[in-house]
Amino acid sequence: MNNLLEVKDLQVSFFTYAGEVQAVRDVSFSLGQGETLAIVGESGSGKSVTSKSIMKLLAKTAKIKSGSILFEGKELTGLPEKQMQNIRGKEIALIFQDPMTSLNPTMTIGKQIYEVLKKHQSMATAQASKRALELLEQVGIPNPEKRLKQYPHQLSGGMRQRIVIAIALACNPKILIADEPTTALDVTIQAQILELMKEIQTKLGTSIVLITHDLGVVANMASRVAVMYAGKIVETGTVDEIFYEGKHPYTWGLMASMPKLHEKSEELIAIPGTPPDLSDPPKGCPFVARCSYAMEICHGHMPAYTEHSDTHRAACWLQDSRAPKVERPIAGGEW
Ligand SMILES: Nc1ncnc2c1ncn2[C@@H]1O[C@H](COP(=O)(O)OP(=O)(O)OP(=O)(O)O)[C@@H](O)[C@H]1O
Ligand SMILES: [Mg+2]
Repeated sequence: MNNLLEVKDLQVSFFTYAGEVQAVRDVSFSLGQGETLAIVGESGSGKSVTSKSIMKLLAKTAKIKSGSILFEGKELTGLPEKQMQNIRGKEIALIFQDPMTSLNPTMTIGKQIYEVLKKHQSMATAQASKRALELLEQVGIPNPEKRLKQYPHQLSGGMRQRIVIAIALACNPKILIADEPTTALDVTIQAQILELMKEIQTKLGTSIVLITHDLGVVANMASRVAVMYAGKIVETGTVDEIFYEGKHPYTWGLMASMPKLHEKSEELIAIPGTPPDLSDPPKGCPFVARCSYAMEICHGHMPAYTEHSDTHRAACWLQDSRAPKVERPIAGGEW
């Protein structure tokens, strides 16, 4: 599979009054043509900072310290803003959790779509209106003529998110980064939006990076999963490898603590403790303080990745040949 996106050893820090916060620490992953990669992990693990780094939409206080982000073989980290503007929205589009923050409340829906089309596709007004109607139809908005004249507050949350997706799709981007795109929506609408993203992917061959807290969504949408903890990817694999053959105790804990779609009375077990302070991250494994299996070596040394298949690798000392054999607690995603 040809990699459309290749992130390698990415390090991103915030420089605050209180010092440096190492939000993303040596993150590497790739995204192939037409595939969906899910990024999962607790709040604060660096998922959004990773996705904003790819789009070069980081806050002024943040800096990509090192590493590489290759899009179609082109390095994005050092790319001047002017050239980045040709990639952002056109080649790689980002959908945020809350559609209200991505839409301009003072502009009609139509105008917001036309602006994108005119800017990136250099379309004339007549052509842009035709394409805007097409896009609204594509994302399943009834009465598109009427909707184009309305303002965001006149639409429901689900409809607003469809508009955000329509805008993201306006230029047929090769990559769609969706950062918790359905968290703010109710379950039925959530399922419709995800279905829509899948349809679009099948039709247009779009590659998707999907950030979500919901394992049901991961199972339904993704082919591969990256598990993030304290700014690092601690494990990555296919959905089956992560769900059923996870190697990292954090992955085990996460599986038990995340909600699964269609399982109503699932009891969620929170992982005791909190993630480390990223202004002074631990020298060894970042999960050591919360890990029931921690050994002496885990405190002082970061484990290297061990490869379990072409697609599956994990960074945990338990996988070292000298470590005691530990079975994951209960098969099937329990902690
Ligand atoms: N503006 C900022 N200044 C300083 N630190 C920040 C800033 N924004 C984020 N961080 C730090 O970067 C780390 C990663 O944040 P990020 O937003 O990527 O987390 P996340 O995985 O997306 O979490 P969530 O699931 O809550 O969205 C956090 O530990 C956070 O404290
Ligand atoms: Mg986030």
